[in-house]
Amino acid sequence: MLSRNKFIVFLFVMLTCHEQCYSKIPEYIQVCKRDQDTVNECVRDSIEKLRPKLVEGIPELNVPSLDPFYIHEIAPPVGSNSRAFQAVGKDIKVSGAGNFSLKHVEVDLENLTFRARVRFPRLHFEGKYKVDIQFLLLPIRGEGTLVADAIKCNVDAFMKIKIVERDGVEYIEFTSIDTDITIRDYKIKLQGLFNGDKALEDATNMALNENKAELLKAAKPFAEKGVSTIILDAANKVTKDIPYDELFPKP
Ligand SMILES: *[C@@H]1O[C@H](CO)[C@@H](O)[C@H](O)[C@H]1NC(C)=O
Ligand SMILES: *[C@@H]1O[C@H](CO)[C@@H](O)[C@H](O)[C@H]1NC(C)=O
Repeated sequence: MLSRNKFIVFLFVMLTCHEQCYSKIPEYIQVCKRDQDTVNECVRDSIEKLRPKLVEGIPELNVPSLDPFYIHEIAPPVGSNSRAFQAVGKDIKVSGAGNFSLKHVEVDLENLTFRARVRFPRLHFEGKYKVDIQFLLLPIRGEGTLVADAIKCNVDAFMKIKIVERDGVEYIEFTSIDTDITIRDYKIKLQGLFNGDKALEDATNMALNENKAELLKAAKPFAEKGVSTIILDAANKVTKDIPYDELFPKP
C-alpha cells in the first residue's frame, strides 16, 4: 500500500509528467537516428511521409493546409522600395504546392543546419490584386482578379537550428531561414486594369508576360520573404513539442 505522502507524490508526478514523461510522437512523424551517415535519407523520407498531412494541414498543431494554400495578403516587404512597387495581393489561393518533390536534403547534426531544395512543378494562383506601379516605364494601375501559373519553381532553403531547453527537456527550434527562389516560366492575367479599359488591359498583360526576366526579378524578394515565413512557421509548429532526444534519438 502506498502511504498517503507517497500517493500524493505519485499523483503529482503523473500530472506534471503528462506531457514530458509520456510525450507521444504523432504517428505521422517518422523519427531519425542522430547519425550523420543516415540522417539525410531518413529526414527526406520523413518529409515524404509527412506530405499527405502537410497537404491537408495539421489542425492540432495549427499548421495550415499546403494544397490549397491561402495567402490572406501579400504586400511589399517593409523597408523595401515600396514607392516604386505598390502592389498588393489579397485572398490568394495557391494550388499545386502538394506536388512538390525533394531534390536535396542535407541535415548537419554537428553544426545544426538544414538545407533543402524543393521543386514545385506548377503553382496556380487565383486571387485579388491592387496595383499602382511603373513596370519598364509602363504605368500599371487597377484592381480586380488575378490568375497566374508559375512553372518549375525551385526553392533552396537554408535553415539554422538551435537546441532550446524547456522544463529540463531539449527541443529543436529553427531560428532563421534563407531562401533562394527561381522560377522557370509563368503566365499571368490581371483583370480590371485601368477601370476596365480592355485595350490597355490587354497591352499590359502582354507586357507582363513578355518581359519575364524583369517581372521575376521584381517579384523575387516578395516571393522569398513570403515563402521563408511559411516554411519557418510550419517547421517550428511541426517540431515544437517533440523532444530532441525523441525526434533524433541517439543511436
Ligand atoms: C498536382 O498533381 C495532381 C496529380 O498529378 C494534378 O492533378 C494536379 O493538377 C497538380 N496540380 C497542379 C497545380 O499542377
Ligand atoms: C560543420 O562545420 C565545419 C566547419 O564549417 C565543417 O568542417 C564540418 O564538416 C561540418 N560538419 C558536418 C557534419 O558537415
